[in-house]
Amino acid sequence: MQILVIGAGYVGLVSASCFAEMGHHVTCLDIDTQKIEKLQQGIIPIYEPGLEEMVRRNMQAKRLSFTTNYATSVEEARVCFIAVPTPSREDGSCDTSYVLAAARQIASCMNKYTVIVTKSTVPIGTSQKIEEEISLSLKQRVVQIDFDVVSNPEFLKEGCAVQDCMKPDRIIIGTNSESAKKIMQEIYFAFTINHERILIMDPKSAEMTKYAANAMLATRISFMNELAGLCEKTGANINHVRSGIGSDQRIGFHFLYAGVGYGGSCFPKDIQALQAIAKEMGYETPILEAVDTINRRQKKILAKKISSYFSNLGGVEGKTIGVWGLSFKPDTDDMREAPSIELIQELLQRNATVKLFDPVSMSNAQKVFGHSPQIHWCKDEYEAAHGVDAVVLVTEWKQFRFVDFEKILQNMQGAAFFDGRNQYKHHEMKSKGFDYFGIGIPS
Ligand SMILES: NC(=O)c1ccc[n+]([C@@H]2O[C@H](COP(=O)([O-])OP(=O)(O)OC[C@H]3O[C@@H](n4cnc5c(N)ncnc54)[C@H](O)[C@@H]3O)[C@@H](O)[C@H]2O)c1
Repeated sequence: MQILVIGAGYVGLVSASCFAEMGHHVTCLDIDTQKIEKLQQGIIPIYEPGLEEMVRRNMQAKRLSFTTNYATSVEEARVCFIAVPTPSREDGSCDTSYVLAAARQIASCMNKYTVIVTKSTVPIGTSQKIEEEISLSLKQRVVQIDFDVVSNPEFLKEGCAVQDCMKPDRIIIGTNSESAKKIMQEIYFAFTINHERILIMDPKSAEMTKYAANAMLATRISFMNELAGLCEKTGANINHVRSGIGSDQRIGFHFLYAGVGYGGSCFPKDIQALQAIAKEMGYETPILEAVDTINRRQKKILAKKISSYFSNLGGVEGKTIGVWGLSFKPDTDDMREAPSIELIQELLQRNATVKLFDPVSMSNAQKVFGHSPQIHWCKDEYEAAHGVDAVVLVTEWKQFRFVDFEKILQNMQGAAFFDGRNQYKHHEMKSKGFDYFGIGIPS
């Protein structure tokens, strides 16, 4: 099938490549001309395991191409997926202007029955708004063309997006149209051969499902972070508590890690957007409010622990802190809402020097922090720990799991290690000579 994917970001580029991998003919469109020029040369603008090879393979097979031209690509396509940003407005509500702009662009050049599919995460009722926008544009063009709008929220996780997209847990299709349903089933047929994964529902329920999934996952994280704080107060160990509750099949082990709070381009904005939707409806959402409040508190936890540790050692001012991991989670270069940002900004404000290292997000991090004599960009975790008063693990990249801690400690100026992801064994780190601090474990 001839598919157009609008937006060549984390969702659009991955989805376009996976559709092409399954044999569809896909054009991926973006308004960012530089990005498209690079993609046309086979240069991938984001880091996502397995993506580069997949893009190149499908470009060579002529199943995947890139463009900035709406007119020709919409004319050719039977289905147009919209995968553009839906950022937060200042009041936390979701800004759907990019989605509606893309819909209007489609309407301005549509010449036959087309299915318009929203992959972006959008407030409940957006499918209806898109339908109204397109109808209005067609009326202004004085043409009568049939179309359907479908909600097809995306659940991929950055860091394993290709795998998630190729083998989704479920495919949610929100439509009331029989023709659109058939076309969507045809597109996703290849993804469901192993077992049926398609769930058909009305568009509003599909839109709500995406917010509900992210809200549930964020709730688990905030719940564990709240308990971690209580563990520290009472002397319990959150790692043991996690094992103890996770083994209950009704609870399970996933998403039960205490840490430095959730970040990324989805959870923070989607929780706030859902709260804003509820507010607009005059409906109270105390759980969502608590999830957000706990997360904001948790993002400050490392700075608080560091500050308390150095309070009897002359304060944080003038100290050098090594930071391991900058992206919001491992296996991605995405710095959006990364917990490292708040920590590093706080350290810089307190006149500390920071030595930073991340396996892939160094250039994105440089865009966030800029250049400063207080910041040293390091080539690896060893350089980032060299001569420092403390090391802080913020993002749990696999390469940090087995490091030579004897060498690290020998080359450090101090002995403090703050483990924001509970990656190491408390007693082992202590016996190696570190002043070790985890999250929700006795120190
Ligand atoms: N990143 C994720 O892990 C993830 C997962 C699930 C859902 N989502 C949702 O998917 C949507 C896209 O997220 P993303 O992370 O891929 O965003 P992104 O910022 O990585 O990419 C969006 C792309 O859309 C392009 N764009 C903006 N307006 C456009 C227009 N009118 N026409 C064509 N291109 C346009 C931008 O230039 C950019 O390249 C958001 O709604 C997000 O909430 C994201």
